[in-house]
Amino acid sequence: MPGNEEEPSVRVLISEDEITARMKELAFEISSDYEGKDLLLVCVLKGSMVFFADLARKITIPLRFDYICVSSYGDGSESGGAHELRTDLNESVSGRHVLLVEDIVDTGLTMEYLFGLLSSRGAASLDVVALLDKPARRKWEVDIAYRGFEIPDEFVVGYGLDYRQQYRNLPYIGALESSSPLG
Ligand code: IMP
Repeated sequence: MPGNEEEPSVRVLISEDEITARMKELAFEISSDYEGKDLLLVCVLKGSMVFFADLARKITIPLRFDYICVSSYGDGSESGGAHELRTDLNESVSGRHVLLVEDIVDTGLTMEYLFGLLSSRGAASLDVVALLDKPARRKWEVDIAYRGFEIPDEFVVGYGLDYRQQYRNLPYIGALESSSPLG
């Protein structure tokens, strides 16, 4: 709300041009690594939807889309720890090469949950591409096959990422700055 002193401000951390350039490199690597393979690109909703849509359109090999939705942070900025499957995949992963598209890996607990859920379903391979990696708060070591940017321990918004369901439409990644603790 303009003029509201409680409203956090957003400082640009990664510009739109930087995101686009890095995403082209990731898409090139993915296109080359999965050439000739049955690739299922899985969007981890909701935060990854912007990254997913842009990345998918830069990948040059045939692929299928699917979506999975897991609850994690609720509406605030602190991890809740517990995870719940809200929407499962539609496609069978059996024999397919599954690549999870994640906006940010923070504690790693969402990836721990998803790897636990999907690894028994017979995929030919299961990997993750993450736009952002925030290793400072890691609780489960995730092997991130494709990583966009490593970022410091700051709460970030934009390019699909939210704070209390806002800021998802910013075209860049920004750090939230507030005089009072976020939550
Ligand atoms: P993790 O389970 O702690 O690795 O967190 C994964 C999820 O937490 C992401 O998919 C985001 O939805 C959310 N998250 C983690 N860090 C941030 C952040 O800095 N900004 C916005 N969402 C975040």
